[in-house]
Amino acid sequence: SLLLFRLLALAISHLLFISYHFLSYTRKQTGVYTLPYRPDTGELCTNGTTEYYCKNVHMCCSLCSPGTRRKVECSSTSDTVCEPCHAGQYIANFNYTPNCFRCPKCSEDKGLQYVQRCTSSTKAICECKSGMYCILGKSPDCMECASYSYCKPGEGVSTKDLSPIENIWHVMK
Ligand SMILES: *[C@@H]1O[C@H](CO)[C@@H](O)[C@H](O)[C@H]1NC(C)=O
Repeated sequence: SLLLFRLLALAISHLLFISYHFLSYTRKQTGVYTLPYRPDTGELCTNGTTEYYCKNVHMCCSLCSPGTRRKVECSSTSDTVCEPCHAGQYIANFNYTPNCFRCPKCSEDKGLQYVQRCTSSTKAICECKSGMYCILGKSPDCMECASYSYCKPGEGVSTKDLSPIENIWHVMK
């Protein structure tokens, strides 16, 4: 019966070996497969856009799609669990981040107006209202604006819109 046991063990290990390679073969050929899976070579997952190598379990797992965050990390038997960002938060990329980012507000107090509203998968983008220029950040993704100063009659502009510090309208004599 010891021989029988050894034969059985050998058969099972061969079966595992074959099914493992069959699975990785079908994964590459058809692109249809289930996650998580152990990568064939090192830490390289089949789809680098939608999957990541999870070091804790040594498996390739699903990334969360834009607009969702990672709620539960994958294990060796179950894939990543994702959940939508709360209102007022966003994530623009495929990710395994446990937290979404807070949407910036384009506040009128800072001279800002919306170029793009925030959605769960897009960041809000703010620009300066007309007659103002950006003093914090880089237009068109500005965080704070200041009003232009105006030239006196008979004077003209020599320099405009340089770096925030230089962003003073120099007066030509
Ligand atoms: C990765 O998966 C996405 C979504 O299924 C697909 O659109 C994309 O073509 C895949 N990329 C590669 C390199 O297989």
